[in-house]
Amino acid sequence: MTVTAVVGAQWGDEGKGRIIDYLAQNADVVIRFQGGDNAGHTVVNEYGKHALHLIPSGIFNPETQNIIGSGCVVNPEALAKEMESLTAVGVSLDNLWLSTRAQMVMPYHRTLDELEERARGKDTIGTTKRGIGPAYADKAARSGLRLGDLLHPDWLEARLDNALRTVHRKIEILGGEPVDGKELYACCMDYREQFAHRIVDTAPMVRRAIQAGQDVLLEGQLGVMRDLDWGIYPYVTSSNPTAAYAPAGAGLPARALDRVVGVVKAYSTAVGDGPFPVELFDEAGEKLRQVGEEFGATTGRPRRCGWFDGVAIGYATWLNGMTGLAITKLDILDHFDEIKICVGYEMPDGSVITDSMPDTPLLYQVKPVYETWLGWRESTEQCRRWDDLPKAARAYIHRLAELAGVKVDYVSVGPERDQMFVV
Ligand code: GDP
Ligand code: IMO
Ligand code: MG
Repeated sequence: MTVTAVVGAQWGDEGKGRIIDYLAQNADVVIRFQGGDNAGHTVVNEYGKHALHLIPSGIFNPETQNIIGSGCVVNPEALAKEMESLTAVGVSLDNLWLSTRAQMVMPYHRTLDELEERARGKDTIGTTKRGIGPAYADKAARSGLRLGDLLHPDWLEARLDNALRTVHRKIEILGGEPVDGKELYACCMDYREQFAHRIVDTAPMVRRAIQAGQDVLLEGQLGVMRDLDWGIYPYVTSSNPTAAYAPAGAGLPARALDRVVGVVKAYSTAVGDGPFPVELFDEAGEKLRQVGEEFGATTGRPRRCGWFDGVAIGYATWLNGMTGLAITKLDILDHFDEIKICVGYEMPDGSVITDSMPDTPLLYQVKPVYETWLGWRESTEQCRRWDDLPKAARAYIHRLAELAGVKVDYVSVGPERDQMFVV
């Protein structure tokens, strides 16, 4: 039995979906532990290519129980759409469960996300506009609605009433249109109709799985650099993608966690605003974007691209307590004569740091210190074992592991399920 958290070790979009899909071939349970439909977790397998937003990436294994955990915020409309698209290609949703304790993203949360971004003027966060921040804000303010509320219509009506008292005021201040409480209640009754049979207290399910010694995967959303506490605040999401939150958001004790796999791209990308020291504005950056097809899986925005950031990975390893790395998109570097790695940040006073992450205002001022490596210039796409990799690619991976301070467990050389191997 193993409980494994799979988390993003950079700025998101590291390839968590494809890693979970691979590991879920042998998992009994997969639990999404935070975030909402801001996620775009791409999975490519015999069912085609799917960008999953809410549904755990273990859904393609019909033997695996898939749970949307209490740490998540769930937009029922987005969920319905996603379920439809999976059903259309023959994926079974019989094993999809929603925690009674997960928060709902209501239509007004999306409105507020738009209005709040607009109100920030030129100092935007670059959110996905999926209502994630406002939904978590309501959760903390104790005015959120939970999926479990749908099971109790009278209670739901009172909770909605309560929520709308402040929602109305916020929307008015920000210049939006008033919302219709009756219409929203009717929407909720629709959601009840669609989802009631899947909304369960997931805590006993998870407890039984752990007690029976089953294999459990905890699926993170985004990455450590956008963590609410430890990322580049305020350019972060409103939850904690780090492994420490995985047990809390999934509903199991912290000491149940056995392994933490940090997913990292062989280079860096980010979407949204805020400091990104390794960002390239030159030809190499454009080439990473084109060859790596670096466009957002949720919003379609071009991703900001740069070389691998060895400072960020050291930080991510420590904070997440990673037991191993999963390196993705190595194949994209097949096309480069020269590859750089950022091994330190030069601070405004000329000193170089390698083992901590400066706070946001300082991070804007650091200059990356690079090492230059020769590319291997041959395709790795067909490699299925460590020894198949070109010597220079193995050396490159060794260097990434050294900077991370942890071993490499998996290497991925393409988006397809079989384009990956255990090291
Ligand atoms: P996630 O949000 O962390 O699950 O990552 P995304 O799905 O947003 O972005 C990762 C993208 O890279 C997706 O389009 C994947 O299909 C693709 N991908 C994942 N691993 C590899 C790989 O090893 N090689 C290549 N070429 N593409 C990959
Ligand atoms: P996955 O799970 C990349 C970024 C947004 C923005 C910030 C806050 O696919 O890795 P939010 O909508 O959460 O309030 O936006 O976080 N962001 C992501 N970037 N991948 C994601 O998800 C993201 N989810 C949010 O661009 O900078
Ligand atoms: Mg993504």
